[in-house]
Amino acid sequence: MKHRLEIETMGKMKVAGPQYANGEITISGSKNSALPILAATILTDEKVILHNIPNLADVNTMIEILENTGKKVMWENSTLVIEKGEEKINSILPYGPVRKMRASFNVLGPLTIRNGYAKVALPGGCSIGVRPVNFHLEGLKKLGIESKIEHGYTNSKFTENNHQKKIHISLPFPSVGATEHLITTAVMLKDTETILTNCAQEPEIVDLCNFLISMGARIEGQGSSNIKIYGTDRLYGTEYTIIPDRIEAGTYAILGAILGGKVTLNNVIEDHLFSLLDIFEKLGIHYEFKNNTLIVSGISKMELTPVDVETSTFPGFPTDLQPQLMVLLSLIPGRSSITENVFKTRFNHVDELNRMGAKIFVESNTAIITGVTKLSGAPLEATDLRASAALLIAALAAEGETVINNVDHIFRGYEKLFDKLEKLNLSVEYFE
Ligand code: EPU
Repeated sequence: MKHRLEIETMGKMKVAGPQYANGEITISGSKNSALPILAATILTDEKVILHNIPNLADVNTMIEILENTGKKVMWENSTLVIEKGEEKINSILPYGPVRKMRASFNVLGPLTIRNGYAKVALPGGCSIGVRPVNFHLEGLKKLGIESKIEHGYTNSKFTENNHQKKIHISLPFPSVGATEHLITTAVMLKDTETILTNCAQEPEIVDLCNFLISMGARIEGQGSSNIKIYGTDRLYGTEYTIIPDRIEAGTYAILGAILGGKVTLNNVIEDHLFSLLDIFEKLGIHYEFKNNTLIVSGISKMELTPVDVETSTFPGFPTDLQPQLMVLLSLIPGRSSITENVFKTRFNHVDELNRMGAKIFVESNTAIITGVTKLSGAPLEATDLRASAALLIAALAAEGETVINNVDHIFRGYEKLFDKLEKLNLSVEYFE
């Protein structure tokens, strides 16, 4: 069965608050694992079967890209079957999918290695802040891929670095995307050992490496800041199950802390959420972990203690939970702060929360939050995926009616959102 989730026009969500969350849901597969793993399927012509894939707008954009390169992709519930379709790989990727989703850019390396050349649109601006691709291009150059930027496109050629058997790349910052892009390219450099240092350690990097290893790649050190890759010229078909989405889990855990009741989340990996659970402990929020189930209880706000939080790369507190955590801290008596170290200007949600009565003041890359006793419903504007999730939680907690405009960003990262909200006894109205 083939099913698609397309977003043509932006919808609105109407929420009457405050609401009380109670119930049990199962966390979906990880979006940010699915995307680089799907891009890596370009490395083989053999059949790849991927389980636990979330049906999200971004995943469907990556499927369109794979189809554009000549692959045949089929959905079977939450499983994707990817096979060789066209005889020849198409390695030209237009601006459309890259504009929709920056992770599309990560097909540049694999396509250039497979076809000898590739032309992929350069990503443009992004609402969460400046997101250049210089680490990607500098790293690819070391791997033997020369790129020229012309008319908004990256024209890349593989120069067959035959003489170089050992390549060392040190990333200036542990970028998730650059680490993934360079690993996915280096695995196909035959007889070449690539050492990546200062690389990202996120669980999604480990998942990508485990997937590549299941295709026959030789990789060591994933999950640490030094990764070693021994290249090969052939990778094979495989069947693989991706990890649960730690950001989706974290979002519902924060929702549970604010709106609970008791919220039970199945299919959660505890090690992936340590930084959030550590904050819960400091705040005084009660939670319980049993096997892969996280139970979060909402408690009286008066008992909570404010905290100072900094976002950072894994295992630090993720930037992708920063807007959601800000809603929680807005409702805790006293002065909390969040310093954003990954995307230093990712504060689009602040003005919207202030319009609901929050007291947040941004100074450089730090938001200073003075807790208020309640938020009040207001018309709001969503600007990106995680800001939309934060505004939805705030709307559910607020007194009165909230309408969130441009809310469809949320479907990029939260699978079966309405089903899951209903299972938690929450109701929202969606209209276009
Ligand atoms: N950076 C550069 N040059 C580069 C690459 C990155 O300066 O060539 C900078 C960025 O500007 C940013 C920092 O490095 O300040 C970190 O960016 P990173 O490359 O790690 O982010 P990304 O790979 O583009 C992924 C996730 C994001 C998540 C970030 C940080 C995917 C598909 N996206 O993006 O997820 O916020 O890592 O953890 O994996 C989301 O899911 O909502 C989302 C935005």
